Amino acid sequence: MDLFTEQRPHSIAIAEGACWLPGFALPEMHALWPCVKHHLTAHPPQHMMTPMGYVMSVQTSSMGALGWVSNAQGYGYSPVNPSTNVSWPPLPAVILQLAAEAAGKAGYSQFVPDSCLINVYAPGCKMGLHQDKDEKDFTQPIVSVSLGLPATFLFGGSKRSDKPVKIPLQHGDVVVWGGASRRFYHGVSPVKAGTHSLTGNCRINLTLRKAG
Ligand code: SIN
Ligand code: FE2
Repeated sequence: MDLFTEQRPHSIAIAEGACWLPGFALPEMHALWPCVKHHLTAHPPQHMMTPMGYVMSVQTSSMGALGWVSNAQGYGYSPVNPSTNVSWPPLPAVILQLAAEAAGKAGYSQFVPDSCLINVYAPGCKMGLHQDKDEKDFTQPIVSVSLGLPATFLFGGSKRSDKPVKIPLQHGDVVVWGGASRRFYHGVSPVKAGTHSLTGNCRINLTLRKAG
């Protein structure tokens, strides 16, 4: 535990209840990346449609008891992959452990996610400002892990019009938000083209949530 804490020194507050943990996932990357890579081969990411009928620019896949879905009926969670009707695979131990440790570092104890949304951003893909509000229990935080190409994460406030802070996320960074900022608006600026030694020409984000 001491070693674990020493390897992950920094925590930067970005809003009440929200913090940025630069490099927090790096010590576990040797186990984490093969898990994600294997998952994406078996469960290829897909473009989902928004309820308004637009194609989302990011491609998504999921792990865990509940996967995030979007379709003409709205946003929500489903125990099955909508493109195959097959259950999502369980969350691997390395991801559960990383999520709990990151949440703990941010002040949220006993975090046990049941959903890991995997967003794949090709160059130019972005995520507009939105709130994560499809989950049942807002006392549980969100843990977000960045892999591959860097991106600018925008973290605003409770209103869409609140000016966001810009956080330059790198491979291995983790952001945790909850408490007062659990439903704060956030998004991602268009990802710039580049090449990363693990992910190649994309950014991948893991969003860990207790959805059900
Ligand atoms: C999201 O909030 O849905 C994604 C955040 C990210 O990609 O960093
Ligand atoms: Fe989000």
